[in-house]
Amino acid sequence: MKQGKRVGIVGAGNVGATVAYSLAMLGSCHEIILRDNKIDVAKGKALDMSQAASAVRSHTVVTVAEDISDLTNCDVVVVTAGSPRLPGMSRDDLLMINANITKDVIKGIAKYSPEAIIIMVSNPLDAMTYVALRESGFERSRVIGMAGILDSSRMAAFIQEKLGYGGGQIRASVMGGHGDDMVPLPRYSTVAGVPLSDVLTKEEIDEIVVRTRHGGAEIVGYLKTGSAYYAPAKSAAIMVEAILKDTKQIHPCAVFLEGEYGHDNVVSGVPVMLGANGAEKIIEVTLDDAEKEMFANSCNSVQTLIDTLNKNNFFGDN
Ligand code: 2OP
Repeated sequence: MKQGKRVGIVGAGNVGATVAYSLAMLGSCHEIILRDNKIDVAKGKALDMSQAASAVRSHTVVTVAEDISDLTNCDVVVVTAGSPRLPGMSRDDLLMINANITKDVIKGIAKYSPEAIIIMVSNPLDAMTYVALRESGFERSRVIGMAGILDSSRMAAFIQEKLGYGGGQIRASVMGGHGDDMVPLPRYSTVAGVPLSDVLTKEEIDEIVVRTRHGGAEIVGYLKTGSAYYAPAKSAAIMVEAILKDTKQIHPCAVFLEGEYGHDNVVSGVPVMLGANGAEKIIEVTLDDAEKEMFANSCNSVQTLIDTLNKNNFFGDN
């Protein structure tokens, strides 16, 4: 019998659990399967969420995979597993620790859910997306990193805060890697279609750009024991929904570039059309020289991480 849509979530910490909760409340799929080494915590959260789903009359059930081999036949798997980013720790510090965790997880997903579309959330995001692509052997359209929706949402929230109006009407655009040299694009950001430069001064826009680049760290600074999770989780859930519903809508996501924007063999955030087959199309936006330079810098930072992985012979056993 044909089964309903199944979404696997690896890592049932704050981000993973909030992705699950968001999808369960929307009834986005038939089943959500949580996988975490802390099996009892995953079981408790799964029960709690299934009960919340009943409360809102959602058909979604939340279950637990006690082993990665139980994560079978998923349509989408969201990977949030990894060491959290602690105060003072850059996303890049997490590189080798999380690369090893990602390698294990991805090998399991490729084996037990070979048709899945993988959404990476673990940091450093672009490098982990690269690791997931290499270790899964999947085509690039099926390995997508979550970052651009989050970074653009942060920029939109900062624009709203600065303006004091326009909530829900702001479209902010951020490209590049999910690091401190991400590329916020004020030129492609609007408030109900009104260009940013018509409602804010250059100094105000510059301030928003800087704050966006450090948006994750700002929250880590408050939380102290971990990183943001409501906006990262909602951003991942938006990607899951776009894929399951085959919306063909454009979202900024991290994907492997094969010549787009003049870059090759690196992962970076660009606008992509999301649909049932994953990142079905990469949209090439016209960038001016300064924007191109920022994008190239951002790609170079990701390339440095990939070089570090290679220097450590990380992919040597492939
Ligand atoms: C953030 O920017 C955790 O990378 C995530 O908050």
